[in-house]
Amino acid sequence: MKPRIFSGMQPTGELHIGNYLGALRGWVEIQHDYEPIFCIVDLHAITVRQDPKQLRENCERVAALYLAAGIDPDRCAVFVQSQIPAHVELAWIFTCTVPFGWLNRMTQFKSKMQQAGSSRDSIGTGLFVYPALMAADILLYQARFVPVGDDQSQHIELTRNIAHRFNNLYGKTFRVPSTKLPTVGARIMGLDDPTKKMSKSSTGPNHAIRLLDPPGRVKKLIGRAVTDSQPGVNWGAPGPGVANLLTVFQAFSGWSDRRMESHFAGMRYGTLKGQVTEMVNSKLAPIQQRYGELVADRPQLREVLRASAERVAPIAQRTLRRAKRRTGLYSV
Ligand code: TRP
Repeated sequence: MKPRIFSGMQPTGELHIGNYLGALRGWVEIQHDYEPIFCIVDLHAITVRQDPKQLRENCERVAALYLAAGIDPDRCAVFVQSQIPAHVELAWIFTCTVPFGWLNRMTQFKSKMQQAGSSRDSIGTGLFVYPALMAADILLYQARFVPVGDDQSQHIELTRNIAHRFNNLYGKTFRVPSTKLPTVGARIMGLDDPTKKMSKSSTGPNHAIRLLDPPGRVKKLIGRAVTDSQPGVNWGAPGPGVANLLTVFQAFSGWSDRRMESHFAGMRYGTLKGQVTEMVNSKLAPIQQRYGELVADRPQLREVLRASAERVAPIAQRTLRRAKRRTGLYSV
């Protein structure tokens, strides 16, 4: 049996090349070696305010992008978190298992609080207990690996701790997942600020290349990308902006380091940007075309989500039943 992996993405904002090169493409590459479950986590999304219509629409759009990027729905489960109520039920049990102090140490909570400019009086409590829900997502399916970006590693560590704690308190119930997959994803930085990871929640107009951006916009964005004052590509010591453009090119092209060096060393930035633009556009075009076809056929898309949920729900149910029994929750 192939080892099971679980991962999730929030249906908020639009996926960009950082999401693609850092996670999604890696999922596509490893889907044949594992038993993958990919969840679109709408319950996580509502920890901050969402427009209801847009949230629902985004769930289907993200699913379409997964498939357009090459996720094979015959191999992988692709479903929306709220389709399977067991996530919420186990999350409550974990909310009662995890010490307050553990959640209080989560750095993402602190930074999101700051980002929202929110105070304790206006922020939803869900944002605080969110890691208990994430632990439930993963542990419900007894996942072996959780391929995520390094910004999530503290939550994975917490998930492991919750599993250990529950197992110690109530008897072995959950498989403790390993921290990381042995795959590599590229770390893509913001075009406007190459010292910060490209992010969906950064709102600057020149920050990210979205997977659905038309060629003209990609050209404009790369044209405006921050470089530095050197005359051309200083291969040994490129500035962070130039290094980022080279990373984008290499991640999309798959060129070796040697080939990259002999091609790009000393190249003027205008030429570099033109070539990066061409490479990005040539790789996005087929994804965009498939995406267009997928979103045009909603019944088919919904069927993928429905069938996936139907397939994995029994796994979640089995784990939940055991956890409820262990906890002493009543059922007849
Ligand atoms: N918290 C993750 C993020 O914001 C999304 C997520 C929710 C997730 N549940 C998960 C990722 C379970 C991996 C496994 O990116």
